[in-house]
Amino acid sequence: MKLIKAKDYDSMSRKAANIIAAQLILKPDSVLGLATGSSPVGIYRQLIEWYRDGDIDFAACSTVNLDEYAGLTADNKQSYAWFMQTNLFDHVNITSKNINIPNGANPDADGECARYNQVIGDVGGVDLQLLGIGHNGHIGFNEPGDAFEKDTHCVALAQSTIDANARFFGPGETVPTHAYTMGIRSIMSARKILLIATGEAKADILYKAMCGSITPAVPASVLQLHSDVTVVADQAALAKFEAAGVKVSSH
Ligand code: GLP
Repeated sequence: MKLIKAKDYDSMSRKAANIIAAQLILKPDSVLGLATGSSPVGIYRQLIEWYRDGDIDFAACSTVNLDEYAGLTADNKQSYAWFMQTNLFDHVNITSKNINIPNGANPDADGECARYNQVIGDVGGVDLQLLGIGHNGHIGFNEPGDAFEKDTHCVALAQSTIDANARFFGPGETVPTHAYTMGIRSIMSARKILLIATGEAKADILYKAMCGSITPAVPASVLQLHSDVTVVADQAALAKFEAAGVKVSSH
């Protein structure tokens, strides 16, 4: 695992965006695994800027998003489909047929998860998977549990996740309680993984995930078993690593 320290959120976003840009430049038809949440917003902003400058091109790439809230349609402003459109896809030259996100509006959970597993197989698997990390160590929406979940599945969100994500919902809007998410096996099948973390609120869980026991109780800890993981985090999120004397590079 490679740990890269950035001084703040903007620097973390630029460093992580550089890794995604390099992937696209070296392999224009890459399959990018994308994530939502507040952490990747700066990365998407940076990628849009480089696209406008003519430095990167999305024409040949495909994307596979990690997850979607069950029960939300793609035109719902709280859906991850909407998030991806407004934060990235509307601003770059990606082909809409190459965009893949679980369909939260499909009430047939088993059918939707099976369809999404097929989609991931059909695109040939993920070249580079971007991940954030939840406060309880979740990746995608793989919540702490007794076993590592495998492929795409429907999950009941932990109350702490519902509470954390409530900040994106307005008064009177109900925060969804279920989601469709790629499983741990789907995530671990990606050829490269890029995990980002920002802020002191992530310091404990990031350290536990990367340096603690590998356990379904901390889903991100499974990443210790992947052979090509890069973690880009800001100083605040890396505080525990430095205190423990773990070597962190600045580039
Ligand atoms: C959600 C998403 C995750 C994301 C997490 C952390 O639960 N499903 O993919 O990593 O939020 O979000 P944030 O970056 O806002 O802390």
